[in-house]
Amino acid sequence: YTAELDASDIEKGTYPHYMLKEIDEQPLVMRKIIQAYQNEMGDLTIDHGVLNAVLAADRIYIVACGTSYHAGLVGKEFLEKTAKIPTEVHVASEFVYNMPLLSENPLFIFISQSGETADSRAVLVRVKELGHPALTLTNVAGSTLSREANHTLLLHAGPEIAVASTKAYTAQIAVLSILSEVAGKVKGFDMEFDLVQELGIVATAMEALTDDKEAFEQIARDFLSTTRNAFFIGRSLDYHVVQEAALKLKEISYIQAEGFAGGELKHGTIALIEDGTPVLALATQENVNLSIRGNVKEVAARGAHTCTIAMKGLEEEGDSYVIPHVHELLSPLVSVVPTQLISYYASLHRGCDVDKPRNLAKSVTVE
Ligand code: G6P
Repeated sequence: YTAELDASDIEKGTYPHYMLKEIDEQPLVMRKIIQAYQNEMGDLTIDHGVLNAVLAADRIYIVACGTSYHAGLVGKEFLEKTAKIPTEVHVASEFVYNMPLLSENPLFIFISQSGETADSRAVLVRVKELGHPALTLTNVAGSTLSREANHTLLLHAGPEIAVASTKAYTAQIAVLSILSEVAGKVKGFDMEFDLVQELGIVATAMEALTDDKEAFEQIARDFLSTTRNAFFIGRSLDYHVVQEAALKLKEISYIQAEGFAGGELKHGTIALIEDGTPVLALATQENVNLSIRGNVKEVAARGAHTCTIAMKGLEEEGDSYVIPHVHELLSPLVSVVPTQLISYYASLHRGCDVDKPRNLAKSVTVE
């Protein structure tokens, strides 16, 4: 497959910003990805070369930067839980100077929307010198990281123009879920769910959220219009998503934000909670629902202005928003959408340049 680019893809149309358009495109991107990775029988399928590389690996090293790194954190969950392959996730700029001890048969997965990020490329060059196989997950066919790796999987997200990445993040997670599911099946593991069906449910849930923008505009107004800082907390998979949520808010609204593991807050950072400090919590994972609720109470008792976004079935009285139910492992695809919209409106309300934030570039081609 090659990424198709036509005029309508790069036009904003009636949208005031590319970012909002790209957030709205996510349900469509999910459906495009399902189609792109289905065979004539409707089963999910992955190129044989890629699949063999994954199956031959005794350990996977995911290397990426920024939002793509955060997608990698979620990808590790799939690779370990559905394909049962030990996986590590590394920030490219660190990996290149401080390489971890490698396993005997490693596979490197580079995640990069643009396929041009210099920090990731520096690692790829090193990995090739060492003779290890590499797979690039990218939105851009023919990009440097795609050409230089042994294998490529495309994201099929269409051009992403806004500097703050949204649809590429969810596309990266969806493609990693498919890769893990196909690898797990070939290894003979029983899949407890039908991924095609579950990703369809995700697309519908995303649609419900993008149709409810006023709710997120209101949350941004209530919690973020004047604050200088904000905390996002979550546990388990929600911890990965809150790290991305904090990055998104920082990038486009310049609010100092931190994504924190709910249970770790008390070991220091809780000292920063004052009267009115916004703390946004995600609660989509059943086994940590009680504990994250406890963390919200801890910060509320210290004056925090708390906003909890919970998944249907786990909601409690007083929650700010309830997102539709999807399979727990896939919840990052859905729970990230409210945080994207909240960041978008926070940026808008504060008069920032949503699509072109200061000091940032869409693709960073220097180390
Ligand atoms: C830049 C962008 C980020 C992006 C990161 C990685 O810093 O501003 O939004 O996440 O690069 O980009 P990539 O194209 O490698 O995914």
